[in-house]
Amino acid sequence: MAGTVSVNSSELREKGRKDPVIAPSLLSANPLRMEENLAALGKFVSWIHVDVMDGHFVPNMTYGPLLVQGLRRAFPSSVLDVHLMVENPEKFVEYFLPAAPSYLVFHVEATPHAHRLLQQIRKSGCGAGISLNPGTPVEMVYPLLPLVDLVLVMSVNPGFGGQSFIPETLEKVEALYRRRTLKNLDFLLQIDGGVSVERAAELVRRGCDVLVAGSAVFSDPLPERSAQALYEAALEGLSHA
Ligand code: DX5
Ligand code: ZN
Repeated sequence: MAGTVSVNSSELREKGRKDPVIAPSLLSANPLRMEENLAALGKFVSWIHVDVMDGHFVPNMTYGPLLVQGLRRAFPSSVLDVHLMVENPEKFVEYFLPAAPSYLVFHVEATPHAHRLLQQIRKSGCGAGISLNPGTPVEMVYPLLPLVDLVLVMSVNPGFGGQSFIPETLEKVEALYRRRTLKNLDFLLQIDGGVSVERAAELVRRGCDVLVAGSAVFSDPLPERSAQALYEAALEGLSHA
């Protein structure tokens, strides 16, 4: 799709092994000061994670396509990764595509037609991503891996920011990392929920390329500073990978 800011995932993955990505989650920004809060990220505004919740798939409601369009206009060169926590994602994808997101990520639990939907997203020129809840076995996404640009491993139950990290989910990251190498696949490994400075190094060491962080970034009055701290901690994990 024209205007889509996408990332060559093999490039970023290779880069990712040297250079982990911090993806600030808009959910923890002040909803009445989003643009200002995002601008305060400085260079870390280069990747914005946007949580879309429908009140059905998760017990919370957030944003729609208009907000993503506004973000794209305000931050034309940022990677916009739209995390759809919605039932029947096939009904919503067409509404989000005109906003030129870089990635549209939906949940494997939310549709019986994940394979078809990934094909449709990719065909539209947008990066295609699949996500899995903490209680979902990693094998659920294996048949889909050749079709995805990004796999989002949820490390909390989706719906809210500020929850505690579930350590067992890292076994899924490791399994996906191994499978990517074994099958010579090409996708980014993203983790979302409960990411903190204390944990960032381990996440990268276990295989994550992209760390989504909401409260760890925006609870600081200087979000660029907290994102930088996360980034430096993540780099530390890489040196021990
Ligand atoms: C939760 C969302 C997350 C959320 C993470 O359902 O998918 O993206 O913003 O927030 P923290 O980093 O505070 O756990
Ligand atoms: Zn999310």
